[in-house]
Amino acid sequence: MAGHTCIIWAVNMNDLSPDLGLKFGFSQRLIEAARDQSRVKGLTHEFYRYPARFSPSFVRGAIEAFTRPGDWVVDPFVGGGTTLVEAMAMGRNALGIDISSLSSFLCEAKTQILSDQDVSVFERWMERIDGTINMHSPSERHDAYADAGYYRNLDGPEFWRLRKAIEQAVSSVERLRRKRTHVLARCAVLKTAQWALDSRKTRPSVKAFKAQMFKQAGLMLKAALEFRDQVNGLDLAVPPRAISLNRTTAGAERVKAVADICPPKLIVTSPPYPGIHVLYHRWQVDGRKEAPAPFWIAGKLDGAGLSYYTLGDRKNPGLQTYFDNLKSTFTSVAAMAGDETTVVQMVAFSKPEWQLPKYLEVMEDCGLEECCPWEGALDDEDGRLWRDVPNRRWHAHQKAHAPGAREVVLIHRKARL
Ligand SMILES: C[S@@+](CC[C@H](N)C(=O)[O-])C[C@H]1O[C@@H](n2cnc3c(N)ncnc32)[C@H](O)[C@@H]1O
Repeated sequence: MAGHTCIIWAVNMNDLSPDLGLKFGFSQRLIEAARDQSRVKGLTHEFYRYPARFSPSFVRGAIEAFTRPGDWVVDPFVGGGTTLVEAMAMGRNALGIDISSLSSFLCEAKTQILSDQDVSVFERWMERIDGTINMHSPSERHDAYADAGYYRNLDGPEFWRLRKAIEQAVSSVERLRRKRTHVLARCAVLKTAQWALDSRKTRPSVKAFKAQMFKQAGLMLKAALEFRDQVNGLDLAVPPRAISLNRTTAGAERVKAVADICPPKLIVTSPPYPGIHVLYHRWQVDGRKEAPAPFWIAGKLDGAGLSYYTLGDRKNPGLQTYFDNLKSTFTSVAAMAGDETTVVQMVAFSKPEWQLPKYLEVMEDCGLEECCPWEGALDDEDGRLWRDVPNRRWHAHQKAHAPGAREVVLIHRKARL
């Protein structure tokens, strides 16, 4: 990492005033949290397997270190909503932004607080699953989605049973008029369909699909209630809330909902990684054929192709579009930040030797100054916190110690003029 060694934070951590939101011992706890390799679980985190989602314990560590209850936390690339769930569970308010409408759907599903009435309507829907999915009943083809291409790679005869089961399940959800129940039930169908189709070689039977959906719906209801208890048990004068915006982060500081809550105490995020291929918006069916079905099932519209979701085409020379888009989004991130905002990122690189320095240059151009608060606590020679990535689908093709198999935690503050 020639020429880019992390500058140790200019202050002694123990001397920091509580006004900066930092707490004694935070650095050790954050290091442990960032390196925690346990599976993503708990609360509503398992509602969907969002690609490249970060570990809840890392986000929790950052929230604990840099914020207090009632503060605002922003995630400008919120993906599956991990930050929003953790923030609310800890009594912080959270705003998430993502260019993917699938992300907004998941954020809503994971952070809504169910009423008892929502729960009973959901339980009644669950009881009907067995009769709803029935191969002898007529198909309920969703023509608008089918005509717009959302059935791609699921249109073949080998998929007809599962396709019909999903169509029937989605139609049953669409008959639910109660908003939160509808969202939770839709998410249960989405999760089950992901289990049935995404990255697997064999297809389950309709019977197994039905059983799985009943099981998932039950687990998700339990998780949603655990989340509700956690949030209600915080005993705060004003309950925490989450907002999610479906748009690009570039220019988002000018949106009223964003401007109203800025500057937040913490911006914690994991943007698309340079040069690393992650399919945020597709499932891979039958030997890696890409299917846009998650948008159809979530009742959303897909924005565009892969490069739309990854900040640019990874084949572009020098990743120029990636770094241009990184700059336009992080210019807005810097505009959202104030003097007391800490910006924490988790990033991986396909070729760290040139991409990390370039990445840091972009941060600097955006007016963000790197800090490394880990004095003496790390043995990584560049002074940054690195972690091995647990066995994730998106890097499975890489060798165990290939560069993309490591992630780094970057911490920035707004540069003082
Ligand atoms: C690595 S994922 C975030 C995962 C998230 N940390 C989680 O735990 O689920 C990166 C996200 O950035 C989003 N994204 C890409 N370009 C964007 C842009 N210009 N503005 C906002 N979000 C964007 C993608 O849709 C994707 O969801």
